Amino acid sequence: AGDIADLVRSRIRDVADYPKPGIVFKDITPLLADPSAFQSTVEALGSPWLGASPAVDKVVGIEARGFILAAPVALALGAGFVPVRKAGKLPSAVLSRSYALEYGEATLQVHRDAFAPGERVLVVDDVLATGGTVEATTSLIREAGAEVVGVSVLLELAFLAGRARLEGQDGFDVRALLTVSD
Ligand code: PRP
Ligand code: MG
Repeated sequence: AGDIADLVRSRIRDVADYPKPGIVFKDITPLLADPSAFQSTVEALGSPWLGASPAVDKVVGIEARGFILAAPVALALGAGFVPVRKAGKLPSAVLSRSYALEYGEATLQVHRDAFAPGERVLVVDDVLATGGTVEATTSLIREAGAEVVGVSVLLELAFLAGRARLEGQDGFDVRALLTVSD
C-alpha cells in the first residue's frame, strides 16, 4: 500500500495559484500520461472490492475527472458504469442534488433509472476535498434506490475534512490511495 501511495505522490503535480491565487491545484495529468502508473492506480482503486460477495454492480464516475478513473475501474470489477453529470447533460429523466461550492453552488444529476433496486455501487473520483461532490453523489445514488458500498479516490485532502462530512451516511468504506494533510 505504501508503494501505491508513493507512486501517486510522484505523479501528481502541484500547480500554485490555479485556478486562483492561493490555491494549489492537484494536477493528475502526469499520472494519466504514465501507462504503468495509470494501470496500477486503476487496479488499486478497485482492488478492495474485487471479488466482493455480493459483487459491485455499478461503478459511478463523477464528471469530469472522475470519469477518467471510474470507467476503467468498472471494467476491472466486471461492473457497469454510471455517469453522475453536471446539470443539464443527461437526456432522460433525472434526479438532482445541489451542493455548496466555495462561491455559489453546483448541481449534479443522475438518470432516475440508472440502477436496479438494491444494486451495490462503488463511487470513484479523483480527489476528496470538502466532500461536497461525493456527498451529493452518494445522496443521488440512494435516492435512485441503490446502495453505496464504497467510495474510492486517488487523493484525499484530509485538512478539508471530506471524510468527516460523509460519516453521517452509514455503512460504506471510504478509501484513498494517498492522503495528504497539508
Ligand atoms: C473537483 C474534483 C472532485 C471535487 C472535490 O472537481 O475532481 O470531483 O472537485 O471537491 P470537494 O470534495 O470539495 O467537493 P471539479 O468540481 O473541480 O470538476 P471536474 O472534475 O469537472 O474538474
Ligand atoms: Mg471533479
